[in-house]
Amino acid sequence: MNVARQRIGVLMGGLSPEREVSLRSGGNVCAALARRGYRVYALQIDHLDQIVPALYEIDVAFICLHGGVGEDGTLQALLEVLGIPYVGSGVLASALAMNKLQAKRVFLSQKLPTAPWVEYRDELWPDWRARVAQEIGFPCVVKPVSQGSSIGVHIVHSEDELIAASQATRDEFGHFFVEKFIPGKEITAGILRIDGADRALPLIELRPHREFYDYIAKYTPGACDFIIPAELDPQTTLKVQETALRAHHALGCFGFSRVDLRVTPQGEPYLLEINTLPGMTDTSDLPKAAAALGIGFDDLVERMLQTAFEKEQLKPKPAVKS
Ligand SMILES: Nc1ncnc2c1ncn2[C@@H]1O[C@H](COP(=O)(O)OP(=O)(O)O)[C@@H](O)[C@H]1O
Ligand SMILES: [Mg+2]
Repeated sequence: MNVARQRIGVLMGGLSPEREVSLRSGGNVCAALARRGYRVYALQIDHLDQIVPALYEIDVAFICLHGGVGEDGTLQALLEVLGIPYVGSGVLASALAMNKLQAKRVFLSQKLPTAPWVEYRDELWPDWRARVAQEIGFPCVVKPVSQGSSIGVHIVHSEDELIAASQATRDEFGHFFVEKFIPGKEITAGILRIDGADRALPLIELRPHREFYDYIAKYTPGACDFIIPAELDPQTTLKVQETALRAHHALGCFGFSRVDLRVTPQGEPYLLEINTLPGMTDTSDLPKAAAALGIGFDDLVERMLQTAFEKEQLKPKPAVKS
């Protein structure tokens, strides 16, 4: 197969609240692929009914959609049905990672550390507040189950704040949960398949100039300091990298991902979530982590593209009937 002749569709935009971020990621990826001489098709998705016709124009999908359809496994399933190779994780891992609660259940099943939580369910509303106060305590973190970019995440310090944040989150997103606040450092671990082996990249420590790493801190240049490598002792660094890599494998992720963690002052990591389609904007973490290992942006994009072909090669071949 001559990769240089393949039509590579970069899917970007979409309908999730992370549309603007996705357009920035997609633009950067298109530029990188063009610089490397690939046949690039920028596929901006403004309506879901554009997706299927767009896919008939391409041979390989470089998905740069964040959140919703694109990151949640549904687009991956469509691509599987159409037989179009695509970058990164498959259907199941994408779906698991998109649902923070299911991901946490898998982490626990593999004895991987994640903060205690209480799930909100409609029928539990009356005694739910008491459970949060008793089992989780304050401060705690109210989060939608399937969002990203810190959208809908609230850190609350009292029962009054909990009630207000819970009602707002329930009304906007429906399904949500409350997690124990983990003090300490905000760390993100990029995972990248390099020459056939999955590697945890140098850790990034995020020091937002705000109460936490919210949407503004994530996407406003200068609103957050990035410390690379993170200021952790060598032993803790290894522990965090190993936890991140195990979490990537526990969900069955493929090729690349970005694992978000909190690390306590005692050096204990807690997994927050895994992003299977990490941002590729100018302020995004995965490109920074790769750069710290000497992998430039275009090189990173090319390695990510490679995961589409590697995933195909690793699929079991159907038995040939004689
Ligand atoms: N349990 C927690 N303890 C402390 N801070 C948290 C916790 N959960 C989330 N946060 C803060 O909220 C941010 C977003 O949470 P995260 O679970 O990573 O969701 P998202 O998908 O929106 O990035 C984190 O990067 C962190 O700053
Ligand atoms: Mg996160």
